[in-house]
Amino acid sequence: MNKAADPLEMIQAPSLAGPHEGYMPGFGNDFETEVLPGALPQGMNSPQKCNYGLYGEQLSGTAFTADPPERTWCYRIRPSVKHSHRYTKIDLPYWKSAPCVDPDVASLGQYRWDPVAHDGADLTWLTGMKTMTTAGDVNTQVGMASHVYLVTESMQDAYFFSADSELLVVPQEGRLRFATELGIIDLEPQEIAIIPRGLVYRVEVLDGPARGFVCENYGQKFELPGRGPIGANCMANPRDFKAPVAAYEDREVPSTLTVKWCGQFHETKIGQSPLDVVAWHGNYAPYKYDLKTYCPVGAILFDHPDPSIFTVLTAPSGVPGTANIDFVLFRERWMVAENTFRPPWYHKNIMSELMGNIYGQYDAKPQGFIPGGMSLHNMMIPHGPDKNAFEGASNSNLGPEKLENTMSFMFETRFPQHLTEFAAKEAPLQDDYIDCWSDIEKKFDGTPGMK
Ligand SMILES: [Fe+2]
Repeated sequence: MNKAADPLEMIQAPSLAGPHEGYMPGFGNDFETEVLPGALPQGMNSPQKCNYGLYGEQLSGTAFTADPPERTWCYRIRPSVKHSHRYTKIDLPYWKSAPCVDPDVASLGQYRWDPVAHDGADLTWLTGMKTMTTAGDVNTQVGMASHVYLVTESMQDAYFFSADSELLVVPQEGRLRFATELGIIDLEPQEIAIIPRGLVYRVEVLDGPARGFVCENYGQKFELPGRGPIGANCMANPRDFKAPVAAYEDREVPSTLTVKWCGQFHETKIGQSPLDVVAWHGNYAPYKYDLKTYCPVGAILFDHPDPSIFTVLTAPSGVPGTANIDFVLFRERWMVAENTFRPPWYHKNIMSELMGNIYGQYDAKPQGFIPGGMSLHNMMIPHGPDKNAFEGASNSNLGPEKLENTMSFMFETRFPQHLTEFAAKEAPLQDDYIDCWSDIEKKFDGTPGMK
């Protein structure tokens, strides 16, 4: 089951020692990095001949005319046309794309799942990706999908890219290596990674089995939220995001590249590793972020702000203030609000909320929402604290209290989320979740007083 092997060697660019070793800090910077000295042209992008016999190639993550454009110039052993041959359609039955509305599956309701367990099957990043919900439409580049991944095996001479989406990866157990065209990202729980649309990579298991969550963003890229009156500091700080230094391999072995394109999967056979970028510069790159560096801001006198105060990254839709996806983090923090019901209040939300637990206890649901588990509170479906959380928070002494041992997250989207057949029929759905609110009492009897 645990088939973690030594990762394949890639030749990495030299980098500074210390906390940023192997990475370059900053969010959306215009980075430059080269493994071999002089591999990166200076002062221009497309010289008549590139040093070392490399090929220059641009990877565009936005339209050329977007403001600002996101693109990266790669200097590589072979141009990508050599990493693409005829395509054959293949089936990955558990990886679904929107629209995916199963007439036999209800999505209207409150749902909660226990962790999806490993069952002994050998699974890679591709075969172990199991879609829980889909929203929007992959063909028109709006919406998202949420997945659970179960990975036990490294991809062997196999590579992947998604033309449909950027992937936000939230590990919960195990460590993975993302060996990408633009460098190496090693990822463990309490970190996240963003793998951009169109970027080729393979996933290796460093410490398995691995389990986690993925938000597949069909729309505009994730960006840092505007902080508004919070100002220049706190929440997620740009310097804590890390892009990899360049790394390449010169492996001439029969290989397979799988492509996700408009919800379908296709394979192409090639004769070498496509991870052959020796130098690159630009602002379209994978990155990772340590969730422990997220600086939460909240109420320091009374009341409970909207969860948007905990947004780490936001992927805009065309409507200002209305995200295609917000990625929101609920982590350790102090609770100090006076005369306040401190947990999340009861609510109905036009946005739909998919949550996952990375570790510990979530304050609105001390039982039942366990590490590795997920919940879905869909568009306009009421939810909130269970009976015990409500009574506890209504009657506790309101001194300063630290919420310890807690890290959960939310993928919140403006679109309703549809359960897949897997989520409804195979994943460990808690049939009794709705009962967590059943014994909430009527306290009102027409007489005044706090009850
Ligand atoms: Fe909610």
